[in-house]
Amino acid sequence: MTILEARHLAKSYQDSDRRIEVLKDANLLVNKGDLICITGKSGCGKSTLLHMLGLLDNPDQGKVLIEGKEVSSSSKEAPQIRNRDLGFVFQFHYLVEDLTAVENVALPLLIAGHSKSTSLAKAAELLSGFGLEERLNHYSNQLSGGEQQRVSLARALINKPKVVLADEPTGNLDPEKSAEIWETILRLNRELEQAFVVITHDREQARLASITYELEHGVLSPVNP
Ligand SMILES: Nc1ncnc2c1ncn2[C@@H]1O[C@H](COP(=O)(O)OP(=O)(O)O)[C@@H](O)[C@H]1O
Ligand SMILES: [Mg+2]
Repeated sequence: MTILEARHLAKSYQDSDRRIEVLKDANLLVNKGDLICITGKSGCGKSTLLHMLGLLDNPDQGKVLIEGKEVSSSSKEAPQIRNRDLGFVFQFHYLVEDLTAVENVALPLLIAGHSKSTSLAKAAELLSGFGLEERLNHYSNQLSGGEQQRVSLARALINKPKVVLADEPTGNLDPEKSAEIWETILRLNRELEQAFVVITHDREQARLASITYELEHGVLSPVNP
């Protein structure tokens, strides 16, 4: 089953006196259970692509379909789809600093309309499964980089999204912490068939994916294993 599809995405930016064509004709299919890695040189448009896939920005041309239905980032259903069907992890954790770890993870459930007690209980359970049972009530500045990123991953997963979109989720971590996050991603993919699209410029990590694409000259091409 196709969860997420990008068709013929094109996007350019105006940079003072010239236009940079970042995406030219990017196409992608994400099916249930896929672990897709996207690599590419710095500045090639990986984050731009992820923003389009995540309905955070609109392409100039082309479309994004969620379960076969075209959705625009500016449509009125986009916020609900982002919260319910998509999970996001970024290189920098973007946790809400005034909230504790468990409150951050509970946030997507609260937004979806669940009660506070249910949301906090589910968040605590998920965080405990990630080895953070001792850190539930810590604020992000009291957590290590690896812990912050595990909290971000839990927040991305709490609503059981159809796909998690991750933009260099381990880019800011040392190799040991990076390996921990990767092991968690691989386990969730294997055990729960959780679909992921992960941007990474680490070729070794990309080798672990079921499908790897390289973004170059605005086009995604499969990388031979
Ligand atoms: N909002 C923007 N305005 C102008 N240029 C942008 C904007 N966002 C990204 N760019 C440019 O588009 C190119 C691709 O950026 P990005 O998608 O962040 O690349 P990557 O994530 O692969 O490093 C870069 O040259 C970047 O400077
Ligand atoms: Mg980027």
